[in-house]
Amino acid sequence: MVVENMGLDHIAIKVRDIEKSVAFYRNVLNMEVSDRIGDSVAFLRTPSVAAQAQHHEMNITQMSDAELDVLEERGELELDLHDFEEELPEDGPPMLPTTGPIYHIAFEVPDFKALKAAEEGLREIDHPIYRGPGRHGPGDNFFLYFPDPDGYPIELTANMEDAPEEGGKPARRWPKNEHTWNVWTGSEELKEE
Ligand SMILES: [Fe+2]
Repeated sequence: MVVENMGLDHIAIKVRDIEKSVAFYRNVLNMEVSDRIGDSVAFLRTPSVAAQAQHHEMNITQMSDAELDVLEERGELELDLHDFEEELPEDGPPMLPTTGPIYHIAFEVPDFKALKAAEEGLREIDHPIYRGPGRHGPGDNFFLYFPDPDGYPIELTANMEDAPEEGGKPARRWPKNEHTWNVWTGSEELKEE
């Protein structure tokens, strides 16, 4: 062992517009600002679990003027997230659209009902939804994917299976197909727990 790893602690992402991102993570994902640095950095936490929570689970940093200039030159400063949604293949590989190398950032919700409620809430505010609700094979968790203001896909997840050190399932290699990614693929009705 090189690192006495205690788990994933927080993620830091660069964003186009810090105020837009803070508003999204507060209003949609119910996060709160713990601290800021100047006008370009914010540290966010999830207050609903504040009793166990730490200062931040996320750090968002607005890109520098030079980085924003490059995006403007490329015509990528403003994103229409519905465009990404429309480009998704109906079937085929479950790749999510993303503007960068981060594939998605997942937040836990209590259960499938909460995930469905989130889906309805997103539809009410006309926020794009990329995939789901569905249920992954590996992890057995429910999922719903939608973008943040910069196009980083956000995953909501619930009921991921436990993996105890003793007595847990052995690791397996799943086949690379749609059913592995979503065990409900092809089924008429969504199943609920
Ligand atoms: Fe995930």
